[in-house]
Amino acid sequence: MSHRTLYLLLIVLFSCNCSSMSEPQEKEKEELTGRSGLPVESGAAGNQQSCLITGLYPLLAELSSTLQSLKSSMEQEQFKRKEEYNVAFAATLGNRGDVGPFNTDVTLVYQKVFLNAGSRYNTGTGIFTAPVKGVYFFSLSGHNKTTKPMGLRLIKNGEPLIILYNHPLTDAGIRYETLSNSITLMLEKGDQVFVRLLANTWVFDNTDNLTLFTGHLVFPL
Ligand SMILES: *[C@@H]1O[C@H](CO)[C@@H](O)[C@H](O)[C@H]1NC(C)=O
Ligand SMILES: *[C@@H]1O[C@H](CO)[C@@H](O)[C@H](O)[C@H]1NC(C)=O
Repeated sequence: MSHRTLYLLLIVLFSCNCSSMSEPQEKEKEELTGRSGLPVESGAAGNQQSCLITGLYPLLAELSSTLQSLKSSMEQEQFKRKEEYNVAFAATLGNRGDVGPFNTDVTLVYQKVFLNAGSRYNTGTGIFTAPVKGVYFFSLSGHNKTTKPMGLRLIKNGEPLIILYNHPLTDAGIRYETLSNSITLMLEKGDQVFVRLLANTWVFDNTDNLTLFTGHLVFPL
């Protein structure tokens, strides 16, 4: 409530309380209501009412304008939240079959996008860039056959965070394997998060959406 609203409220209370504060005595009551028991629309009671009503007008006007400016500042805040905070993405490698092995680590580009709210995940480079300082959640998964290792690493800027790793089976027991891992972490605005396929390992995806990279802002800081 603004100072002005408070001030107007005080004026109304001050100018109208004189009679409403104290209960009329029995005798006065009789005078006010008359013999029929109905309120008399003149004298002290009438003055009281009109005083209250005229006093209320500016107060209501002030309240209404206060509410209006509150509403517009809330709308502005919501718009800002939409712009900066609505950040979430999910993508798969796409229908590509085997990816790797390469003789060096490579950044995986997840090309088939389910969702890219806020467009902070770059479908050309595979890199997610944090739009605001905040707490973020990421998950990754990977699938393939255990004839070769599968190694995927989540990286923040240059720093390794978490890894998915399948060791190859050396005996006859070859099988298909799927791994997943996830993390919640704090990012500064502009931090970059991405997944690297480790050297001499592989990963697979097809139309079944087996190998994913997802992330979203949990809350800004
Ligand atoms: C990787 O896994 C897929 C799906 O299970 C399989 O079709 C493919 O043959 C595997 N890649 C190799 C080279 O074994
Ligand atoms: C993979 O995702 C696509 C949507 O991008 C969907 O149409 C398809 O059904 C999904 N495949 C499977 C096996 O769930």
